[in-house]
Amino acid sequence: MREELVNLIKKAIQNAQKEPPEASLAKGGKKLPKFELEEILVEHPENEKYGDYSTNVAMQIAKVIKKPAMEIARLINWKLEIENWKFLDKVEVIEPGFINFFLAKKFFLQELGQILKQKEKYGASNIGKGKTIIIDYSSPNIAKRFGIGHLRSTIIGQAIYNLYKFLGWKCIGDNHLGDWGTQFGKLIYQIKKEKVLLKDLTIEKLEKLYVKFHKQAEENSEIEARNWFKKLEKHDKEAKKIWQYCVDISLKEFDKIYNLLDIKIDYCLGESFYQKMLKRVIDEAKKKKIAVKSEGAIIIKYPKNNIPPSMLLKSDGATTYLTRDLAAIQYRLKKYKPNLIIYEIGADQILHLKQLFLATELLGWAKKEKFFHIVHGLVRWKHGKFSTRKGETIHLEQVLQEAISRAGKIIENTETNRGLLKKEKEKIIKMVGIGAVKYNDLSQHHSKDIIFSWDKILNLKGNSGPYIQYTIVRCQSVLKKKISTGRFRLEIYLFGLEKEEESILRTIYKFPEIVQEAAENFSPNLICNFAFDLAQKYNLFYNLYPIIQAETSEKKEFRLALTSATAQVLKNCLSILGISAPEKM
Ligand code: ARG
Repeated sequence: MREELVNLIKKAIQNAQKEPPEASLAKGGKKLPKFELEEILVEHPENEKYGDYSTNVAMQIAKVIKKPAMEIARLINWKLEIENWKFLDKVEVIEPGFINFFLAKKFFLQELGQILKQKEKYGASNIGKGKTIIIDYSSPNIAKRFGIGHLRSTIIGQAIYNLYKFLGWKCIGDNHLGDWGTQFGKLIYQIKKEKVLLKDLTIEKLEKLYVKFHKQAEENSEIEARNWFKKLEKHDKEAKKIWQYCVDISLKEFDKIYNLLDIKIDYCLGESFYQKMLKRVIDEAKKKKIAVKSEGAIIIKYPKNNIPPSMLLKSDGATTYLTRDLAAIQYRLKKYKPNLIIYEIGADQILHLKQLFLATELLGWAKKEKFFHIVHGLVRWKHGKFSTRKGETIHLEQVLQEAISRAGKIIENTETNRGLLKKEKEKIIKMVGIGAVKYNDLSQHHSKDIIFSWDKILNLKGNSGPYIQYTIVRCQSVLKKKISTGRFRLEIYLFGLEKEEESILRTIYKFPEIVQEAAENFSPNLICNFAFDLAQKYNLFYNLYPIIQAETSEKKEFRLALTSATAQVLKNCLSILGISAPEKM
């Protein structure tokens, strides 16, 4: 609809420019001069009383041609060819020069019919057909517990994956595990030094060994650790064996988190996967004169933008995080021929990714526009860092378990929970607890820091996962009593809708647009905003009007259709966000 309106306005402007010269605006006529306009913006006004769509184009033109905006707006309105537009009710020009469009009820009702017909496909499209996107997300570092930063990457990355899939893209998710690098030399050294038996290794032990390595600060230990990593890169049997142990223990631990989160990532290649390709990358960079020797190391210098150089090979011969990321890009470009590669990583790696994308361009592999860094901010408690008050790190598994246990207390108090079997209830509690954590992360723009507050996350009245889930359950309990036949009669409701009913209709049809906007801007939070808006409007309606007891059977049919459509669209939202919608709660 938006695109059609943009075209309609464009045409009106062109027509206004075609008038004979005597009709010039300056002479009181109806002709617009030629001018350059970047883009015609058509937005949804905040307040519904200003219509369903509104444009400020007249004000933009006014700035360029130095004429009153109202005059231009009236002229454009006059030239709009809306006679054949059965979906427009009226167009209004208001101060200081907005043109507002009001869609016809017929349109909304038709859209309602579409929702009931297309169900879980409503909002989906195939605009991504034939295109491939690679999403690099989650990517925790092994030999450590899963951290809160990687939780953000996992949740946001997955939502973006779902979003693009919904739009018909081929999506490839890759968990770029941090399983290679000098830190493994340190670990191996420490394991050997303390004669730790491999079978006794646990994640906690590995974390402690790493800390201990850094506490000893002996010169010798640094050198030996470096030697161990060198051995690892040269496929030394013993080093490989210890390393493999670390990988296996970590993956087992991470799987617990992925299971709790109900997330499965297509690939988990990890940094170690690229070992054999690293030399080729370095050789190519040297040959193309992108990489140069510097104090025994091999570095890339960036010509522009004041970006500091980065290292491909350290002076001790060890490869780096960047080398492996370059190899990953080369591999991905060749294997998948993607249109886009995006990285969901924290803000502390902005420079790394800038260097990576620039290096790729310098190497002539791909333009940097093919890549995008979705930056996420930090997670904090109200009182400060995401750690206990004593400053110890909080383990993610504990946080997720606590979310589930707090959700349990909420479910105990809902009316609809009665009669649920224990197993069923447990499943629902997990959906609500995990859904709450995910929604909290997704409902704010990813680049912002988020404050973690249990009250907010689980607030059944606010912008939270449980609120959306509860609204769906509410709709479903209405529908359980009386299934919508989907045969409400469009014509009957051309007049006489209640304000709150109309308000739902004037919101719900935006969903397909919101999905596209969210994908274009890598912003799942737009889906949350929309879901919250729709849920609030439905609940307002629900509290005011009888549905099954509606005064006429037509009204009942219509309200059931409205309920069914709301449940469906909210479910589609949650499905994109990677959140389950329970049948009851
Ligand atoms: N393992 C890295 C870290 O925790 C994140 C990896 C992100 N992906 C990438 N291709 N660099 O810091």
